Order: sequence, then C-alpha cells, then structure tokens
Amino acid sequence: MNAGTSHLDGKRASVEEALARIRSGDSIVVALAAAEPSALLGSLHTIAPRVRDVTVATCLPMQAYPFFADPAMKGHFLHDAWFFTPAARKAHEEAGTTSYVPNHLHRAGLDRLAYQRPTVFAGTCTPPDRLGYVSLSLSVTYERELMEAADLVILEINENLPRTYGDAILHADDVDLFIEHSCAVPELPPAVPEERDRLIGALIAERVEDGSTLQIGIGGIPNAVTAMLQSKRDLAIHTEMFTDGMVDLFEAGCIARTPHSYGREVLTGKMVGAFALGTRRLYDFLHRNPAVALMRGSWTNDPNVIARNRKQVSINTALEVDLTGQVCSESIGPRQFSGTGGQADTAIGAQMSEGGKSFIALYASTTVKAADGARKAISKIVPQLTPGAAVTLHRSDVDHVVTEFGAVRLKGAPVRERVRRLISIAHPDFRPWLQDEADRLGLSR
Ligand code: COA
Repeated sequence: MNAGTSHLDGKRASVEEALARIRSGDSIVVALAAAEPSALLGSLHTIAPRVRDVTVATCLPMQAYPFFADPAMKGHFLHDAWFFTPAARKAHEEAGTTSYVPNHLHRAGLDRLAYQRPTVFAGTCTPPDRLGYVSLSLSVTYERELMEAADLVILEINENLPRTYGDAILHADDVDLFIEHSCAVPELPPAVPEERDRLIGALIAERVEDGSTLQIGIGGIPNAVTAMLQSKRDLAIHTEMFTDGMVDLFEAGCIARTPHSYGREVLTGKMVGAFALGTRRLYDFLHRNPAVALMRGSWTNDPNVIARNRKQVSINTALEVDLTGQVCSESIGPRQFSGTGGQADTAIGAQMSEGGKSFIALYASTTVKAADGARKAISKIVPQLTPGAAVTLHRSDVDHVVTEFGAVRLKGAPVRERVRRLISIAHPDFRPWLQDEADRLGLSR
C-alpha cells in the first residue's frame, strides 16, 4: 500500500454515500470531458425522487447521463453546459433539460462564480502519492477556482488517469470525499485526415515559422494541421486542449526541449495546456511527464498571458464565416452545436503576441440534408451568417482565414477587400453567387 493512502482515511465514500450529501437546490459543477466523474454522474438520476432544482454544470460531457438525457429528470435537475457534445445537443432539443452557457473559456469558472456559487464540486483524480498529493489529471480548465469556492469537494480516484503536473497537483486535505472508482478513461480518437485537410494543413504550415508557440483547437482540421507541421523545429506548445497531434510533434523532434531556444516568457521549457482529450497514447505521454504542465484555463487562455509568448500561432476551425469576416464556430443558426471555448481567447492572444498569428481554417463547403432528404452542398463562406448564428470570433479580431482553395489575411482590411479575398478562397461553384449577394448587400463597395 502506498503511504499516501493514509491521507484518504475518513474520506472514502461509496457513490451512494456521496449522493446522500446532495440536497434540493444544490449547485454542482463537474470537471471537464475526460476528467468528468462518471460514477457519480451515472447514478445522479437515482436521487431524483428526493431532489428538485439541482443545477449541474458540465463542459464537453462525454456520455448521455440519464440525469440530463431523460426528459423525466426535468424539474429535478437543470443541466448547464459550457460546451455542447452530441449528447448535450440531443438533451437540449429532446429532453429540454439542458441549456448552453455562453462563455470565453478563460472566464468560464470566474463568470460562473458571478452567476451562482457552486455548493458541490465533483471531479476525478489519480491515487495520492506518498505525501498525499493527487493530480486532477486531465483538466484544470476551471476546476481549481470552482472547487475552491464549493462547500463540498468530491473526487473519484481512477488509477487509469495520468498523473499530470502544474495546477493539477492538489493535496488530499483539500478534498472532502473520495470515491474509489477505476474505469477506462474516455477517449477521442483523432479524425483521419482527408485530402482537403492536407491542403489546408500545407497552407498553414507555409505560414508557421520555426520557433513558434502553438495553440491548436478542437475539431478535425486543426488536428490534421499538426501532421503538416512535422518539418518545423523549435516549436513550443501553449494551448488550451492538449491532443494526440502534440505527441506526434514531440516525437518528431519538432518541440524545443531547451528553455531558451524559443521566445517563451512563461513556463519556458514546458508544453502548456488546460485540459487533454485524445487517446490512451496521449494519456500515457502525459503520465508523470515533466515537460508538460496543465495550468488553470483562467491563466493559459488569458490573452494577456498568451501575448507574452513570441510568435504565438492559434489554429482553430469554424462552421461558417460571412463576407465581412464574422466567424461562427459554435452554432448552426440558432441551434447550439458546440461552444465558444477558447477560440476568441486564443485568436486574440496570438495577435497580441510579437510576431503572432491566428488562423481560422475551414472547408470551403459541406453537405447538409435538404427538406427532401437528399444531401446538398452549401458554402461555408456565406454572404450573411445564418439567422440566429452566434458570432464566436468578432470580425475585428479575425486574422487569417484558410480553406482548401487558399489562405487570405483579413486583419485590418476594409469590408470591400475582405469580400474579394474571401470569395477567392470560396468553393468555385459558389463564387458567382457570393459576388452577386455581396453586390446586392452593398458589401463590395
Ligand atoms: N452549416 C450546416 N452544417 C454544417 C456547417 C454549416 N455551415 N458546417 C459544418 N456543418 C456540419 C458538418 O457537415 C458536420 O455534420 P455531420 O456531423 O453530419 O458530418 C458537422 O456540422 C460538424 O462539422 P465538422 O467540420 O466535422 O466539425 P468539427 O468536428 O471539425 O468541429 C467546430 C468544428 C467548429 C464545431 C469545432 O471546432 C468547434 O466547436 N469550435 C469552437 C471552439 C473552438 O474553436 N475552441 C478552440 C480551442 S479548443
């Protein structure tokens, strides 16, 4: 037995004992994505007969837990989500239990405190070390701030979680209850890159200099871009989401291993992120890895902190971009699809950094189901955003936009020039329509 387990004495609880501590009107916040407490969340609905109006805030929920997926839970639980997944989308539309919380990721935890103080925080951690320190492992995006504010802190100990360093390290004394529950860690395998991903990746790679510090966002394209960056050298990582692509870059020798070989002022020599989501390979890479620090999202994603890296490059993707440069990355019309996450944080921070750049990379077109059930092609560069679409990145903050047909820079450009540049990288089939619409709307003048 590890000497550190004595720090758990008097704090071990079963799922049922932990659930017995939850009361009507409680406000629960749980850890993000692969760090979420699945045993507790999987049984939360069992206390529905005795509770009402329990709020549960999640971010990127990995499973369709009954407490929000089951319409019968309405009134017992209210689910607030900082970032929708397919399960949260379905619950919003069909169960009516789930509502999106608009947020910039670096403010998510702090803004939650302004709205509602959590009474309970629940997350996951590694087993304690010999001194009683556990690691919050796969996310410290908002977890530290919210657990510090909660009355009751419950952590599930999962021995399959990687022991990460940085703000993830916490002493068992700061936790009220531990549930010993080892289970498989949720995985998100990277999408297999298509030809158009490679074209986009190559266009971005041409514009990324050796010695840059990278943030690479969530979605198929950003992940494919890492494959095209493998000839780069002396890169650093200062990101929100740590992914398998970053392991590829490390193994390909792209990441600077000595602190002074690149322009970092903060945590030099470390690869920095706020959370990690990927495959077992990523989790094994992160385990006891002194080259990686997971730090609070209120710090990693603060544009002023990001700005202290030289040549910070931010690479994110979008659902649609209008001809003036407004970027929607989180909704399809009024239908919430995902979340703002750190897209604006990182795009703005990168442009504040010396020699920094932000890229919004998207396919020029996609197919959607038409009313007759057939799939039809639509342009993702549009004259106007779909009514109800949320603006994720303001047009004043947009920099480079890339599709498989080219890369253009919008920063500082007037609308007339933005229209011309964006049409030049739209799918050729849609260019005449975009030009006609731009003329009709008075955007090309
Ligand atoms: N209109 C309608 N549907 C669209 C669309 C549009 N303009 N653009 C894409 N879609 C559909 C796609 O066809 C696809 O449908 P399918 O699931 O039926 O195939 C679906 O929406 C997802 O598109 P895809 O391009 O595969 O998305 P992705 O998984 O690569 O994620 C974002 C892209 C933009 C949703 C994602 O990156 C995101 O949420 N970003 C915001 C947060 C962020 O950037 N954070 C940065 C730090 S991590």
